[in-house]
Amino acid sequence: MALWRLLILNLAFLSGVCGAVESLEMLRVESRQILRTRLCGNCHIPPGNSRALKIYNLDRENWAFSMSERQLEQIPGRADLQDEEIVEMGGDPHRHKFTKRELEILNRYVRAEIKDRNPAATLFGAEHNQSGEASQQR
Ligand code: HEC
Repeated sequence: MALWRLLILNLAFLSGVCGAVESLEMLRVESRQILRTRLCGNCHIPPGNSRALKIYNLDRENWAFSMSERQLEQIPGRADLQDEEIVEMGGDPHRHKFTKRELEILNRYVRAEIKDRNPAATLFGAEHNQSGEASQQR
């Protein structure tokens, strides 16, 4: 498993050097690391919250496998927390606030994941990312 991760990091490095497009796998690894370091891990990493873990479990390498496209689309919006919301959740804005760069990576990951699942209908899903709630239709 460690070897696999090393390989991914190497690929990330190489594609950076060559200016190639980042892969879905790289974005998935990066997004997982980002979410793990923020408040999301409180519930989405075992023992966490059983209902939250059913949606996605950040201990799994392919952590988003269990999520529907609609749930995936909600990740960037959920992550874009204001300081007050972080405090309300028992967190520390200095430690738990997502940076702009991190939010961008999450956005790119979600778009890449949806594109991979459904190559014909990419743009549609991506456009709803920003507003988060807009694409929710339960
Ligand atoms: C306090 C616990 C808790 C924290 C912290 C938490 N979640 Fe969740 N999350 C849940 C639960 C519980 C569900 C399942 C909701 C349900 O069963 O309807 C869920 C579901 C989701 C869903 C699926 C959409 C939905 O509404 O069902 C997404 C996306 C999500 N979480 C993203 C995040 C992100 C991103 C973070 C970090 C910013 C985060 N969560 C932090 C408990 C949490």
